[in-house]
Amino acid sequence: MKIITTIKDLQLALSSERNNGHSVGLVPTMGALHAGHASLVKRSVAENDVTVVSIFLNPTQFNDQNDLARYPRTLDADCALLQSCGADIAFAPSVEEIYPEPDTRHFSYPPTDAVMEGARRPGHFNGVCQIVSKLFAWVEPDRAYFGEKDYQQIAVIRRMVADLGFKLQIVPCPVVREADGLAMSSRNTLLSPDERAIAPRIYEALKASQDFAKSHSVTATIQYVCSRINAVKGLDVEYFSIVDADSLLDIRNWEDAQSVVGCITVYCGAKPIRLIDHIHY
Ligand code: PAF
Repeated sequence: MKIITTIKDLQLALSSERNNGHSVGLVPTMGALHAGHASLVKRSVAENDVTVVSIFLNPTQFNDQNDLARYPRTLDADCALLQSCGADIAFAPSVEEIYPEPDTRHFSYPPTDAVMEGARRPGHFNGVCQIVSKLFAWVEPDRAYFGEKDYQQIAVIRRMVADLGFKLQIVPCPVVREADGLAMSSRNTLLSPDERAIAPRIYEALKASQDFAKSHSVTATIQYVCSRINAVKGLDVEYFSIVDADSLLDIRNWEDAQSVVGCITVYCGAKPIRLIDHIHY
């Protein structure tokens, strides 16, 4: 596996692959890789001739500077994991390489980027679109792989791809969970043992709500999930929205959408760590 830190070297390496007619898969990451990322990389390796994994802790998508400062940085372990998954190129640039000038582009895809995470993390999806659009332009992947844990992020990126006319396929990949149900996330390593012990209660409540929803209204299901999670000392629901899986707009009745998803963000512990998850109904 090549470890590349400059855009010039990345494009040089990829142009020879392209000249040989090789397909390219891209897995964008912010590092602190875990088994969820490994599943994306393995899928890309299986479906493409060349797999590029970017490792870049993108500052422009952090609305909370404390969150950026404490985000885990584990480059050596990340590269070892990528090597074991069969990745061909790890692209690990500096902030100066990516943003020699401030990125003043503004992406706006309402309502997709305005609800839920978009409403609570101002500028977050703008920053995601800034970095992902740059990566798409430099790598020109045939396929790009994203974890469904960040359900809304995929919807926003799909809008951006349509808007900017990128010729690539977005491949959403299923959430990978710990044995106790907690969705894998780089932020999980920031949880104390006590916080880690209560975090699975989030998915437990979401799973239980699938049955509850069969005989209750949307409003009652929202209350059920929130009160069940808030009853756990150390967990505090920021929002739980039951939305149309395509438009991401709130639904009032189960019949309002063909496909329905419940998206949740919960504060865990004293720091606190923000955990996100979702469930399909
Ligand atoms: O999902 C992430 O890790 C990031 O938002 C992404 C897509 C790598 C962009 O920085």
